Amino acid sequence: MPLSLAQLRRNYTLYGLRDDCPQDNPLALFGQWLEQARKTEVPPAEANSMALATVDSHGHAHCRILLLKGFSADGFFFFGNYQSAKGEELASNPHAAMTFFWPGLERQVRVEGPVVRAEAELSDDYFDARPAASQLGTWASPQSRPLAHRSELEGRLREVTERFAGRQPSRPEHWGGYCLQPRRIEFWQGRPDRLHDRLDFRLHDGEWQRTRLAP
Ligand SMILES: Cc1cc2nc3c(=O)[nH]c(=O)nc-3n(C[C@H](O)[C@H](O)[C@H](O)COP(=O)(O)O)c2cc1C
Repeated sequence: MPLSLAQLRRNYTLYGLRDDCPQDNPLALFGQWLEQARKTEVPPAEANSMALATVDSHGHAHCRILLLKGFSADGFFFFGNYQSAKGEELASNPHAAMTFFWPGLERQVRVEGPVVRAEAELSDDYFDARPAASQLGTWASPQSRPLAHRSELEGRLREVTERFAGRQPSRPEHWGGYCLQPRRIEFWQGRPDRLHDRLDFRLHDGEWQRTRLAP
């Protein structure tokens, strides 16, 4: 190997997930971990970032970082362009996986399940609450499409800025929310000597069942 990273190692010592962990609701546990991450991760504003993996109609996997914008009993919400590559992949195969990594807490959470579009009203509310510059940027960017030059994007921004001059941009129909409806949520806590803790929750007949997995 021309560049070896084999010596890069970290021993995880901060926390554990005990067998008698009282938490049998993975959404509640996720909420606790996210709150802790917001207090400890740097920068805290991106403790809600995660990798979203999708699979296209040829069976090829694609993964990118997105921001989680909310979660509830319904699922995990994120926003993007419905005509983007991820939008097309989700339209042909709704099964997706998201992974959160909080290095300051030595934690990972993996969430898997089908993704559905969020209600139009929720997408409208979120779009309306975004800063005006982000709203215009959303209109200007044909996400995942080729651009000849950066100036093409800047030209599109000037065009939409003129179009919406003096009024609030409405949400484009091709942009909005998605909800990943979890069927599996796994919590990973780093422990010393690679004997990490993994608690895996799976949804069976509406009930969450918890299993400990080997690291
Ligand atoms: C920190 C960070 C946050 C991001 N948040 C989002 C997001 O919330 N929504 C989004 O569509 N893209 C977001 N992106 C950009 C995506 O990673 C990706 O480039 C974009 O969604 C296009 O992906 P696609 O071509 O697979 O559809 C973010 C990127 C980073 C690095």
